[in-house]
Amino acid sequence: MCSNNEMLDREKIKKALDRDIEIYLYSLIDSTNTEAKRLAEGGTSGRALILAEEQSGGRGRMGRSFYSPRGVGLYMTLLFPSPNETDATLRITSIAAVALKRSIYRVYGIETKIKWVNDIYLDGSKAAGILAESFMGEKEGKSFKAVAVGIGVNISTESFPDELRKIAVSLGKLGGRSELAAEITNEFFTLLDKAGERDFSYMNEYRESSLCLGREIRFTENGYTETGVVESIDDMGFLHVALGNGKSKILSSGEISVRFENKGK
Ligand code: BTN
Repeated sequence: MCSNNEMLDREKIKKALDRDIEIYLYSLIDSTNTEAKRLAEGGTSGRALILAEEQSGGRGRMGRSFYSPRGVGLYMTLLFPSPNETDATLRITSIAAVALKRSIYRVYGIETKIKWVNDIYLDGSKAAGILAESFMGEKEGKSFKAVAVGIGVNISTESFPDELRKIAVSLGKLGGRSELAAEITNEFFTLLDKAGERDFSYMNEYRESSLCLGREIRFTENGYTETGVVESIDDMGFLHVALGNGKSKILSSGEISVRFENKGK
């Protein structure tokens, strides 16, 4: 593990933010997403950025854990109120993926790929993941819907536990975590506000960066495993898959595995 990474710097992050956002910075926490939920339930109703140097119970999708050792990754959650309409977790995950990809490039000059629905890949391995969750908050007796978008990036992690060794990678960079946190926050809220005005042009970048588009994938639905080729990804983030039997399927959630030439899940 790299020991000389700089600490997350609240002032640096605040200065680099292009809007007023509450910052909560912890040395150690169970999970920044869980903390976001606690904050919303406790009445925090504005936009907030929650970060930690280390998570003792970092969470991923499908009940998995997210390896979050001290100081070598970026573990952050963006919390914001969301209008009480349709659940847009998929859209929000897509926005976060593009924001994350762009920010990694700006801060570290590294080109990454997006693996539907929530992973950022580097050289065929996972370098970052996104966990979007929605829940009800409460302020002054009134309830509101809040969304927490958790982002975890392996930045300078040098060794992973056995079960992750074959699938996880780090960006291999020292420093830059505060800059990256601010960049992701700025980019995410800019894209989110644009999406609110029905500007989904960021999805072009999502498609261009997709690891899945045009590839053969495997997915499991209702206990059956199927294979197919991803024909398109629409502006909602739905995956349109052509199956071998001439039929097609639209996926909105779940887990896929992509057939890589050399390496992958
Ligand atoms: C996944 O790989 O399925 C998603 C991983 C998301 C991890 C981040 S780290 C910050 C935030 N807090 C969590 O407990 N999870 C997310």
